[in-house]
Amino acid sequence: MRAPAKINLQLSVGPSRADGYHDLVTVFQAVSLFDEVTVTPADQDAVTVTGEGAGDVPADGDNLALRAVAALRAALPGVGEPVRVAIRKRIPVAAGLAGGSADAAAALVACNELWDAGLTHEQLGEIGSDVGSDVAFAVLGGTSVGRGRGELLTQALVPNAQYHWVLAFADGQLSTPAVYAKTDELRGGAATAPAAELDTTLMAALRAGDPVRVGKALSNDLQPAALAMFPTLRKTLDAGREFGALGALVSGSGPTCLFLARSSERALALAVSLSGAGVCRSVATAIGPAPGAMLLDRPGHDRLGLDKPGPDRSGPDRPGR
Ligand code: C5P
Repeated sequence: MRAPAKINLQLSVGPSRADGYHDLVTVFQAVSLFDEVTVTPADQDAVTVTGEGAGDVPADGDNLALRAVAALRAALPGVGEPVRVAIRKRIPVAAGLAGGSADAAAALVACNELWDAGLTHEQLGEIGSDVGSDVAFAVLGGTSVGRGRGELLTQALVPNAQYHWVLAFADGQLSTPAVYAKTDELRGGAATAPAAELDTTLMAALRAGDPVRVGKALSNDLQPAALAMFPTLRKTLDAGREFGALGALVSGSGPTCLFLARSSERALALAVSLSGAGVCRSVATAIGPAPGAMLLDRPGHDRLGLDKPGPDRSGPDRPGR
């Protein structure tokens, strides 16, 4: 399987709820930065994690992919042989890119196949929502409006435009609950925020497929808190704007910063400039929207061609590496 990172083109955060979550309205986009997840039958459930930030990911029952496996099994009485989940991380951990949710989504789609369970992506997303707010989106991919905790999704009816993103990875992590808590603090209380609302300017820009307008309309209510907790991100955002980004934003709860470029060439040039300016740990370019968690290979079947040598094979360019 491969499973995409997500970014939020808008993240409007409302008041906190009785269950501790915040009602929100967000515009998700999946981007072409993927974790690879392999699921195979085993004697008992197990998980291994390798690659980017692997040491920070639990390799036991707390792992989101294994929790998703358990949730799916609980929803399917009498079905669900044990599995081994091997995760190769390319999406940085605790970076505001929902990498853990991506792995959970991949595990759900894989087990649905392996167990011949026949659930729809909507049903898998519903089961995944108990594991993480972004899992349902990672199953779906594309560009979608999320409401509730982010798990109630409506696919955005927008033309087939490609957006060229630069992701600047920070030297450090931010805890999502801590960034939400800081947001409440900066607002002077958890319950005082106005209701979250969809930004019609952003949606019009997406409908027009116009990256200049999309760049101007990017917004994130978690950004002030992320900047307060990780002040050097300001420099990263300023540098990207100076180098001509159409828009600059903290991704989700951070600390990854994202920048929109007009073309793949401009994105590469921006990535090189950001890397040279020393305002982040490393950079990657990525294209959005990308598909959701996707089966690449199944024993006994032809490979689906998505991982053949070619531009897709190596994932995003990484001039900073
Ligand atoms: O659902 P997920 O595990 O991704 O959420 C992580 C944490 O982020 C939650 O425990 C909560 O503190 C915060 N959160 C929130 N409101 C949301 C989504 C997440 O407060 N809509």
